[in-house]
Amino acid sequence: MNRKVITIDGPSGSGKSTVAKLLSERLGWSYLDSGAIYRLVAYKSLNSDCRTETDLLKMIEGININFEFKDKVYKVYLDSKDVTDAIRDEIIGEEASKLAKNSKVRTALINIQRNYGCSSNLITDGRDMGSVVFPNATLKVFLTASLKERAARRYLEIQNNGVATDLSEIELTMKARDERDEKREVSPLIEPFGSINIDTTLYDIAEVVEKLFSIWDNKALLAR
Ligand code: C5P
Repeated sequence: MNRKVITIDGPSGSGKSTVAKLLSERLGWSYLDSGAIYRLVAYKSLNSDCRTETDLLKMIEGININFEFKDKVYKVYLDSKDVTDAIRDEIIGEEASKLAKNSKVRTALINIQRNYGCSSNLITDGRDMGSVVFPNATLKVFLTASLKERAARRYLEIQNNGVATDLSEIELTMKARDERDEKREVSPLIEPFGSINIDTTLYDIAEVVEKLFSIWDNKALLAR
Protein backbone atom coordinates (compact mmCIF):
# COMPACT_ATOMS: atom_id res chain seq x y z
CA MET A 1 0.00 0.00 0.00
CA ASN A 2 1.50 3.29 -1.04
CA ARG A 3 -0.57 5.77 0.88
CA LYS A 4 0.93 8.64 2.81
CA VAL A 5 0.35 8.69 6.58
CA ILE A 6 0.96 11.49 9.08
CA THR A 7 0.80 10.42 12.73
CA ILE A 8 0.25 12.88 15.57
CA ASP A 9 0.78 11.42 19.03
CA GLY A 10 0.78 13.07 22.42
CA PRO A 11 -0.87 13.27 25.86
CA SER A 12 -4.46 14.38 26.45
CA GLY A 13 -5.08 18.05 25.89
CA SER A 14 -2.00 18.56 23.69
CA GLY A 15 -4.34 19.64 20.89
CA LYS A 16 -3.58 16.66 18.66
CA SER A 17 -7.18 15.80 17.64
CA THR A 18 -8.13 19.36 16.72
CA VAL A 19 -4.86 19.87 14.86
CA ALA A 20 -5.17 16.53 13.06
CA LYS A 21 -8.76 17.29 11.98
CA LEU A 22 -7.86 20.73 10.63
CA LEU A 23 -4.76 19.46 8.85
CA SER A 24 -6.72 16.60 7.26
CA GLU A 25 -9.23 19.14 6.00
CA ARG A 26 -6.50 21.36 4.60
CA LEU A 27 -4.73 18.48 2.84
CA GLY A 28 -7.99 16.75 1.81
CA TRP A 29 -6.90 13.51 3.51
CA SER A 30 -8.86 11.00 5.60
CA TYR A 31 -8.75 11.43 9.37
CA LEU A 32 -8.66 8.71 12.02
CA ASP A 33 -9.19 9.57 15.69
CA SER A 34 -7.76 6.43 17.35
CA GLY A 35 -8.71 7.68 20.83
CA ALA A 36 -12.35 7.64 19.73
CA ILE A 37 -12.00 3.92 18.93
CA TYR A 38 -10.85 3.22 22.51
CA ARG A 39 -13.63 5.45 23.80
CA LEU A 40 -16.23 3.60 21.67
CA VAL A 41 -15.12 0.27 23.09
CA ALA A 42 -15.30 1.74 26.62
CA TYR A 43 -18.75 3.22 25.94
CA LYS A 44 -20.09 -0.03 24.53
CA SER A 45 -18.67 -2.14 27.32
CA LEU A 46 -20.12 0.17 30.00
CA ASN A 47 -23.51 0.00 28.27
CA SER A 48 -23.59 -3.76 27.80
CA ASP A 49 -23.16 -6.98 29.72
CA CYS A 50 -19.41 -7.33 29.10
CA ARG A 51 -18.21 -8.95 32.29
CA THR A 52 -15.11 -10.86 31.21
CA GLU A 53 -12.18 -10.32 28.86
CA THR A 54 -13.71 -12.92 26.50
CA ASP A 55 -16.99 -10.93 26.40
CA LEU A 56 -15.03 -7.78 25.69
CA LEU A 57 -13.02 -9.30 22.82
CA LYS A 58 -16.17 -10.81 21.32
CA MET A 59 -17.86 -7.42 21.50
CA ILE A 60 -14.89 -5.80 19.72
CA GLU A 61 -15.07 -8.41 16.93
CA GLY A 62 -18.63 -7.34 16.12
CA ILE A 63 -18.23 -3.61 16.77
CA ASN A 64 -19.59 -1.35 14.06
CA ILE A 65 -17.77 1.98 14.07
CA ASN A 66 -18.20 4.84 11.61
CA PHE A 67 -16.69 8.30 11.44
CA GLU A 68 -18.11 11.12 9.38
CA PHE A 69 -16.41 14.46 8.71
CA LYS A 70 -18.71 16.62 6.62
CA ASP A 71 -19.03 20.40 6.29
CA LYS A 72 -16.54 20.85 9.16
CA VAL A 73 -18.73 18.72 11.46
CA TYR A 74 -17.21 15.58 12.91
CA LYS A 75 -19.46 12.71 13.99
CA VAL A 76 -18.81 9.31 15.50
CA TYR A 77 -21.32 6.47 15.10
CA LEU A 78 -21.60 3.23 17.00
CA ASP A 79 -23.99 0.73 15.39
CA SER A 80 -25.54 3.70 13.50
CA LYS A 81 -26.14 5.68 16.72
CA ASP A 82 -24.54 9.13 16.93
CA VAL A 83 -22.34 8.97 20.06
CA THR A 84 -20.07 11.93 19.27
CA ASP A 85 -20.82 13.77 22.51
CA ALA A 86 -21.50 10.73 24.68
CA ILE A 87 -17.97 9.32 24.25
CA ARG A 88 -16.35 12.62 25.32
CA ASP A 89 -17.52 12.15 28.90
CA GLU A 90 -14.62 11.99 31.42
CA ILE A 91 -15.93 8.64 32.72
CA ILE A 92 -15.60 7.18 29.22
CA GLY A 93 -12.07 8.62 28.87
CA GLU A 94 -11.08 7.01 32.17
CA GLU A 95 -12.55 3.65 31.17
CA ALA A 96 -10.89 3.87 27.73
CA SER A 97 -7.51 4.44 29.36
CA LYS A 98 -8.05 1.40 31.62
CA LEU A 99 -9.07 -0.84 28.70
CA ALA A 100 -6.13 0.47 26.67
CA LYS A 101 -3.74 -1.34 29.07
CA ASN A 102 -5.01 -4.69 27.84
CA SER A 103 -2.72 -6.11 25.13
CA LYS A 104 -5.48 -8.33 23.66
CA VAL A 105 -7.76 -5.31 23.29
CA ARG A 106 -4.96 -3.38 21.55
CA THR A 107 -4.22 -6.26 19.18
CA ALA A 108 -7.92 -6.61 18.36
CA LEU A 109 -8.07 -2.92 17.45
CA ILE A 110 -4.89 -2.68 15.41
CA ASN A 111 -6.35 -3.84 12.09
CA ILE A 112 -9.40 -1.58 12.42
CA GLN A 113 -6.90 1.30 12.63
CA ARG A 114 -4.53 0.11 9.90
CA ASN A 115 -7.35 -0.58 7.42
CA TYR A 116 -9.14 2.69 8.09
CA GLY A 117 -9.68 4.84 5.00
CA CYS A 118 -8.55 1.98 2.65
CA SER A 119 -5.78 3.37 0.46
CA SER A 120 -6.45 7.08 0.91
CA ASN A 121 -3.82 9.33 2.48
CA LEU A 122 -4.35 9.47 6.22
CA ILE A 123 -3.81 11.72 9.22
CA THR A 124 -4.25 9.98 12.51
CA ASP A 125 -3.80 10.91 16.15
CA GLY A 126 -3.39 8.92 19.35
CA ARG A 127 -0.76 7.53 21.71
CA ASP A 128 0.96 4.81 19.65
CA MET A 129 0.19 5.69 16.06
CA GLY A 130 3.79 6.49 15.09
CA SER A 131 5.40 3.90 17.37
CA VAL A 132 3.21 0.81 16.81
CA VAL A 133 0.27 1.18 14.44
CA PHE A 134 2.00 3.07 11.60
CA PRO A 135 5.75 2.66 12.29
CA ASN A 136 6.54 3.51 8.66
CA ALA A 137 4.46 6.71 8.58
CA THR A 138 5.62 9.39 6.14
CA LEU A 139 5.73 12.03 8.88
CA LYS A 140 5.55 11.52 12.66
CA VAL A 141 4.71 14.33 15.04
CA PHE A 142 4.70 14.40 18.84
CA LEU A 143 2.67 17.22 20.40
CA THR A 144 3.13 18.21 24.01
CA ALA A 145 2.13 21.07 26.31
CA SER A 146 2.54 21.70 30.03
CA LEU A 147 0.07 19.90 32.31
CA LYS A 148 -1.31 23.27 33.49
CA GLU A 149 -1.99 24.41 29.95
CA ARG A 150 -3.55 21.11 28.90
CA ALA A 151 -5.82 21.09 31.96
CA ALA A 152 -6.83 24.70 31.28
CA ARG A 153 -7.75 23.82 27.67
CA ARG A 154 -9.88 20.87 28.82
CA TYR A 155 -11.51 23.07 31.48
CA LEU A 156 -12.52 25.64 28.85
CA GLU A 157 -13.81 22.93 26.52
CA ILE A 158 -16.04 21.45 29.25
CA GLN A 159 -17.23 24.91 30.34
CA ASN A 160 -18.07 25.85 26.76
CA ASN A 161 -20.33 22.80 26.68
CA GLY A 162 -22.24 24.34 29.60
CA VAL A 163 -21.05 21.82 32.20
CA ALA A 164 -19.83 22.92 35.64
CA THR A 165 -16.34 21.66 36.36
CA ASP A 166 -13.29 22.10 38.58
CA LEU A 167 -9.85 22.96 37.19
CA SER A 168 -7.77 21.28 39.90
CA GLU A 169 -9.80 18.08 39.60
CA ILE A 170 -9.25 18.06 35.83
CA GLU A 171 -5.52 18.53 36.38
CA LEU A 172 -5.40 15.59 38.79
CA THR A 173 -7.42 13.28 36.49
CA MET A 174 -5.27 14.26 33.51
CA LYS A 175 -2.04 13.62 35.43
CA ALA A 176 -3.28 10.16 36.47
CA ARG A 177 -4.35 9.35 32.90
CA ASP A 178 -0.98 10.50 31.48
CA GLU A 179 0.84 8.30 33.98
CA ARG A 180 -1.31 5.30 33.13
CA ASP A 181 -0.75 5.86 29.39
CA GLU A 182 3.01 6.40 29.80
CA LYS A 183 3.68 3.56 32.22
CA ARG A 184 1.60 0.74 30.74
CA GLU A 185 3.51 -2.26 29.45
CA VAL A 186 1.93 -2.44 26.00
CA SER A 187 2.22 0.43 23.53
CA PRO A 188 2.88 3.13 26.13
CA LEU A 189 2.67 6.77 25.18
CA ILE A 190 6.17 7.56 23.92
CA GLU A 191 7.72 9.99 21.52
CA PRO A 192 8.07 7.78 18.43
CA PHE A 193 11.52 7.32 16.90
CA GLY A 194 12.06 9.86 14.13
CA SER A 195 9.20 12.15 15.18
CA ILE A 196 9.16 15.92 15.29
CA ASN A 197 8.44 17.26 18.79
CA ILE A 198 6.34 20.40 19.09
CA ASP A 199 5.56 21.98 22.45
CA THR A 200 2.22 23.75 21.95
CA THR A 201 2.08 25.46 25.37
CA LEU A 202 2.58 28.90 23.87
CA TYR A 203 0.84 28.37 20.52
CA ASP A 204 -2.79 28.45 19.54
CA ILE A 205 -4.31 25.77 17.31
CA ALA A 206 -4.07 27.80 14.09
CA GLU A 207 -0.33 28.37 14.66
CA VAL A 208 0.31 24.66 15.22
CA VAL A 209 -1.65 23.72 12.08
CA GLU A 210 0.33 26.29 10.08
CA LYS A 211 3.62 24.94 11.47
CA LEU A 212 2.72 21.35 10.58
CA PHE A 213 1.44 22.32 7.17
CA SER A 214 4.72 24.02 6.34
CA ILE A 215 6.74 21.05 7.72
CA TRP A 216 4.70 18.75 5.49
CA ASP A 217 4.97 21.05 2.50
CA ASN A 218 8.77 21.26 2.82
CA LYS A 219 9.06 17.50 3.21
CA ALA A 220 6.84 16.94 0.15
CA LEU A 221 8.91 19.48 -1.83
CA LEU A 222 12.17 17.75 -0.89
CA ALA A 223 10.75 14.37 -1.92
CA ARG A 224 9.89 15.62 -5.39
O1 C5P B 1 -7.21 10.66 22.98
P1 C5P B 1 -8.33 10.27 23.88
O2 C5P B 1 -8.37 11.00 25.18
O3 C5P B 1 -9.65 10.30 23.18
O4 C5P B 1 -8.07 8.73 24.23
C1 C5P B 1 -8.71 8.06 25.27
C2 C5P B 1 -7.79 7.01 25.85
O5 C5P B 1 -7.60 5.97 24.88
C3 C5P B 1 -6.37 7.49 26.19
O6 C5P B 1 -6.24 7.99 27.50
C4 C5P B 1 -5.52 6.26 26.00
O7 C5P B 1 -5.47 5.50 27.19
C5 C5P B 1 -6.28 5.44 24.97
N1 C5P B 1 -5.62 5.48 23.67
C6 C5P B 1 -4.57 4.62 23.45
N2 C5P B 1 -3.97 4.56 22.24
C7 C5P B 1 -4.37 5.37 21.24
C8 C5P B 1 -5.41 6.30 21.45
C9 C5P B 1 -6.02 6.34 22.70
O8 C5P B 1 -4.17 3.89 24.36
N3 C5P B 1 -3.77 5.27 20.06
